[in-house]
Amino acid sequence: MDKKLIESLNSQMNFELYSSYIYLSMASYLKSLDLNGFANWMDIQVKEELAHVDKFYNFLHSRGENVEFDAIPKPQHKWDSPLAVFEHALEHEKIVTKRINDLVDQSGKISDHATLNFLQWFVGEQVEEEESVMSVVKQIKLVGDSLFLLDRELGQRVFNPPV
Ligand code: FEO
Repeated sequence: MDKKLIESLNSQMNFELYSSYIYLSMASYLKSLDLNGFANWMDIQVKEELAHVDKFYNFLHSRGENVEFDAIPKPQHKWDSPLAVFEHALEHEKIVTKRINDLVDQSGKISDHATLNFLQWFVGEQVEEEESVMSVVKQIKLVGDSLFLLDRELGQRVFNPPV
């Protein structure tokens, strides 16, 4: 495999790990407010990110490459409100989307079709990721002070491992 592409895929694997760390910190903040439904939603997000790590890890190994784990930066641990948490999560997902698109461009330039095919799953996933966080942002804005109702609803989210 192309050395620069391996580095970029490895970097994305580490960024997915960082994403899970940020969301774990967000889950903890929400739990500290006793918003356990919100915290549950965010816990599921952590699992999804770890599943994304797994995909990059396994893809690189299936192409005969090793992976390298980086130090994970310390995530933010306080926000002004649950709305601020989810707005931050949305901004973070937009960064992930840009990174995935950049990876697609990089793979395309060197005609690495296997990587392009692998990344297509993430292209679709990022649409869902942004949509699901955006939906929570909108709902929080709609319900205002009735956060506890939404908290109950978010408590229903379950983890479905990606196929
Ligand atoms: Fe793995 Fe939420 O991006």
